[in-house]
Amino acid sequence: MSRSAHPAGPRHADVLPEGHWTAPATDLNVLDEKVWSRTVTRDADGALTVGGIEVARLAEEFGTPAYVLDESDFRARCRAWSDAFGTDADVFYAGKAFLSRAVVRWLQEEGLNLDVCSGGELATALDAGMPAERIAFHGNNKTVAEIERAVSAGVGRIVLDSFQEIARVAHIARSLGTRQRVQIRVTVGVEAHTHEFIATAHEDQKFGIALAGGQAAEAVRRALTLDGLELVGIHSHIGSQIFDMAGFEVSARRVVQLLAEIRDEHGVELPEIDLGGGLGIAYTPEDDPREPHEIAKALGDIVTRECESAGLATPRISVEPGRAIVGPTAFTLYEVGTIKPLEGLRTYVSVDGGMSDNIRTALYDAEYSVSLVSRSSDAEPMLVRVVGKHCESGDIVVKDAFLPSDLAPGDLIAVPATGAYCRSMASNYNHALRPPVVAVRDGQARVIVRRETEEDLLRLDVG
Ligand code: LLP
Repeated sequence: MSRSAHPAGPRHADVLPEGHWTAPATDLNVLDEKVWSRTVTRDADGALTVGGIEVARLAEEFGTPAYVLDESDFRARCRAWSDAFGTDADVFYAGKAFLSRAVVRWLQEEGLNLDVCSGGELATALDAGMPAERIAFHGNNKTVAEIERAVSAGVGRIVLDSFQEIARVAHIARSLGTRQRVQIRVTVGVEAHTHEFIATAHEDQKFGIALAGGQAAEAVRRALTLDGLELVGIHSHIGSQIFDMAGFEVSARRVVQLLAEIRDEHGVELPEIDLGGGLGIAYTPEDDPREPHEIAKALGDIVTRECESAGLATPRISVEPGRAIVGPTAFTLYEVGTIKPLEGLRTYVSVDGGMSDNIRTALYDAEYSVSLVSRSSDAEPMLVRVVGKHCESGDIVVKDAFLPSDLAPGDLIAVPATGAYCRSMASNYNHALRPPVVAVRDGQARVIVRRETEEDLLRLDVG
């Protein structure tokens, strides 16, 4: 799903005749800063450290597998996004990428807003003290109970996703004696160049209301007539792990066009547009993500230009990066359990986690890199597939990578760029216990989400 080529050139071992894998050009001990969080480095003994702490110490104290999250990097990325967009725009962190109470507090301290898409995310945000007016509530099928909770809490906006929801939110707000600020999510008809399951603005999918055929214009008409709603803007999200700004530009253009049509028909200039999230990150060194300031400039320029030509005042822009903030800030630390060389094919390295802590490889064919982190090694590189411990041959963490050929059981290896959509999509498949999230900062490590225990599993099993 990422655009990476394989480190050694061709990507798929399966299409190559035997023995055609060439050793990687780079020294396996060298950490590529594109895929590792900012405070990661190797110490004098060759072991990886993060936030000033050696990974072996983390493994000893917290066990493996574990997600290790670099708090200073997370905060720095929040600041980079909010500085890039400035005071005329709003950055909403997309909580679905990874959410916990600590994350909510960091967001507040760094001045970001929060986008939630379920009752559970909303509960976490409110519990950790996020002011409700800084929360946006998304989802294509919010339940009545979720809407009631969001409206009574006073969330800053609800993003309406269907005609039924327009009526539903209006009714609930009216019966609670309030007027809810809302945006309407439109599908702009852009084919984002990403995996089919995470592209969201082409017409044949479940999200939003299509611009095509006048559906979105009709949704606006209805929302403007209902007393329970204060329609403040239009929302669009075109997909995820996108590198090319062209899709965002088309989307911005179409949304501004709709604002102009709304002005012409209703005499109302909606004050906000939200262009969603979806900015890609580097999963492997070949990926080349855009910096927040480039993204802010590209989006700001296009919206300003389109508004000028339509004679509209520039609306307040918001964006919703999830992966681009948390993705690069964490790695998953595993211990090597078994090593199985398959003659003429590759070597299978089994770790103590797998598809229960990172489903993205199996689900989206996502590419990751991996490094030996408990020590350095000058041994020859060997072609490996890093797999988990689940009862499924698709249980792959890293499909094709090189690790040193002296790799041994007990070594620690780490897969970088697992901050987004790994813990949040983790499962208990095979009754696996979901790993903890350990936050490190300035020489201190602390658990922000603890490891599941067998008691946690059995507590739910009430038969
Ligand atoms: N805003 C909306 C309305 C969204 O639906 C999403 C992601 C985001 C923002 C944040 O997108 P981001 O900046 O994180 O790409 N599980 C998939 C990704 C699904 C994304 C769903 N919506 C994955 O692992 O790649």
